[in-house]
Amino acid sequence: MVAHRGASAVAPENTLAATRLALAARADWIETDTQPSRDGVPFVLHDRTVTRTTNGTGAIRKLTAARLKKLDAGSWFARRFTGARLPTLAQQLAYVRRHDGRMIVEIKGPHTKTQILAVVRVIRAQQMTGRVLLQSFDEVSLRRVRQLAPELPIALLRTTIDKDPVAVSKRLGLAAYNPKGSALLARPGVVARLHTAGVAVFAWTEDSAARWKRLDAIRVDGIITNKPADLVHWKSRQV
Ligand code: G3P
Ligand code: CA
Repeated sequence: MVAHRGASAVAPENTLAATRLALAARADWIETDTQPSRDGVPFVLHDRTVTRTTNGTGAIRKLTAARLKKLDAGSWFARRFTGARLPTLAQQLAYVRRHDGRMIVEIKGPHTKTQILAVVRVIRAQQMTGRVLLQSFDEVSLRRVRQLAPELPIALLRTTIDKDPVAVSKRLGLAAYNPKGSALLARPGVVARLHTAGVAVFAWTEDSAARWKRLDAIRVDGIITNKPADLVHWKSRQV
């Protein structure tokens, strides 16, 4: 079970507060999005801009790390989270490592070789190589990861299912093929085919018990959800 942007239904997404609650809920994985600051520091943020989830404005890639560290990333969600910061990827990884967790890190938007290297260096420095899955919608960025850090497992995010997902997985050297839940449920047979090829499947982003039940029945390796505590509770009641 994967906590999408942390426990993002009950805490400001992609903050350490959301991560803490997801770990407390016993999430198997924390999903997080990373993008570089203007000066190349990988931060944790979903949107292209800081406008929706902080008290600042503008594109993250145009703001320096020093500026990003000053932003309040909690008060937009609820007053009690005022003062929460945008974590750097290093801070997020360090926190998850201290709590024995695992992370699915989404490379958000196309990354240059230099930007991919910055992400890889942080993962290596935090000694999280064996506990991270790197995913992206961007095939070019994934190819760069393969080239620069072949030891890191990669996953392709898809909104629709390819005609031949096994061939795509082999071509890119994927450890996992991660489709939108509704698309996967329309082609449930691909899970078994991917498993036979040694490729895992994580479906996103589903918050209802009805969907969890259907995805569980087709044996996905993980369900990505905004409600990790609810999913863990639901799972514990299945026989
Ligand atoms: O983990 C899959 C999911 O996070 C992809 O969509 O927009 O939430 O990053 P998005
Ligand atoms: Ca994501």
